[in-house]
Amino acid sequence: MDLLFLEKLLLSLFFTILLAILISKLRGKRFKLPPGPIPAPIFGNWLQVGDDLNHRNLSDLACKYGDIFLLRMDQRNLVVVSSPDLAKEVLHTQGVEFGSRTRYVVFDIFTGKGQDMVFTVYGEHWRKMRRIMTVPFFTNKVVQQYRFGWEEEIARVVDDVKKIPEASTTGFVLRKRLQLMMYNNMYWIMFDRRFESEDDPLFVRLKTLNEERSRLAQSFEYNYGDFIPILRPFLRGYLKICKKVKERRKLASTKSTDNNALKCAIDHILDAQQKGEINEDNVLYIVENINVAAIETTLWSIEWGIAELVNHPEIQQRLRNELDTVLGPGVQITEPDTHKLPYLQAVIKETLRLRMAIPLLVPHMNLHDAKLGGFDIPAESKILVNAWWLANNPANWKNPQDFRPERFLEEEAKVEANGNDFRYLPFGVGRRSCPGIILALPILGITLGRLVQNFELLPPPGHSNSTIISSTPPLYHDSTIIPWRHN
Ligand code: HEM
Repeated sequence: MDLLFLEKLLLSLFFTILLAILISKLRGKRFKLPPGPIPAPIFGNWLQVGDDLNHRNLSDLACKYGDIFLLRMDQRNLVVVSSPDLAKEVLHTQGVEFGSRTRYVVFDIFTGKGQDMVFTVYGEHWRKMRRIMTVPFFTNKVVQQYRFGWEEEIARVVDDVKKIPEASTTGFVLRKRLQLMMYNNMYWIMFDRRFESEDDPLFVRLKTLNEERSRLAQSFEYNYGDFIPILRPFLRGYLKICKKVKERRKLASTKSTDNNALKCAIDHILDAQQKGEINEDNVLYIVENINVAAIETTLWSIEWGIAELVNHPEIQQRLRNELDTVLGPGVQITEPDTHKLPYLQAVIKETLRLRMAIPLLVPHMNLHDAKLGGFDIPAESKILVNAWWLANNPANWKNPQDFRPERFLEEEAKVEANGNDFRYLPFGVGRRSCPGIILALPILGITLGRLVQNFELLPPPGHSNSTIISSTPPLYHDSTIIPWRHN
């Protein structure tokens, strides 16, 4: 009797599985999916491509599978786009369809399930957040209001470095001082306050929280857990830390009360809260987003700029000559000057091309089934635009591996960083493009300009190159670069 029951059970189980496979095959047939390596059961392509889906590995896969290819990471579809035409389709022509963001277990915690702006799906909430953030952060008025603060901050860096005798002999870790500067550049806008020194306890705390957050969001463990739900339980430990970080961040983002003369960003945002447009959590997530999106990205770009100038002394000298000729020797560069300095602009563009801070943009997502490049893209696929490959593909650029700012004065003179050419998208383009470009470009110009005006940037003693040049962003590095006194 028992045996008969078992036999029946096994048979019905067998037919259920068969039916499920049949249904999934039939459903699968509806889709003409992009090409890609054949996925293994449960693990998908994870075993073949590994955990490190960086822009260089994905460029190699594009050479093998084409401008659009599909990876299956467990149940999630990962579509990688590697041509200017397809990038245009994702970011511009079908910008609404592909304008959402994928959800992650870790980001859900950091963003209260998408209550922020950077990681929220495309829709009403995103539009509201972008509108509320535009006035306090993303207008030319903000640049004009805060540029004096930015100029003052880099002047302080220059003074501080000049006071350190070993800077011109054994070298000096510039990154830490520039990090303080970048925090101050953004905290002026946000809270109307600055941190006096790298030892300021609040600065130390915030820095630690941000580093912790980035580490958690980028950790391999999180990727595994996100792709393979079976491994999710292993994440529990991590999630606990995430929650702690979030709670501690709440404390760290209280406003200083000593200067109420001019409305800073947090005042505008609290106004929106009082009007009932957003809630207290949204305020917190805006602070979080600026910390994450603004500070390290700009800092990486500054660092890469310095590294390239160290490794190309002739370019550094040409830039110094331009600054001396246009502004006059010793006249310190200010924001309005940046528009009169084409070689400086070219150096910045070339840095952002070769050393893109966010080489795969922030992943996009289609909420519904969609079409792309003649293929079907199932709903909720993660779409990666390999912006780095678009800007470094030898088929589209002359010797792209060379750091050669001159290209932006010669054959690529019409290409701008704002996305007017789909081969060059360091800030993305379209609806989800980076609104911070309006702040990032002047900060980069003032910072690199002042450093080159005041120092000769050299590699550490005993090295022929800057040490960070061999790494790939977005890794964290302390750059040991010697600023030498300029005359
Ligand atoms: C060199 C510095 C920077 C670079 C290279 C950069 C690059 C990017 C990129 C590639 C994206 C994603 C675009 C996409 O997914 O299509 C992005 C998004 C974003 N960036 Fe930046 N960024 C920089 C600085 C800043 C600054 C200074 C701010 C703010 C003050 C900022 C705020 C944002 C925000 C809020 C988003 C999300 C936009 C959205 O999802 O609607 N960024 N950035």
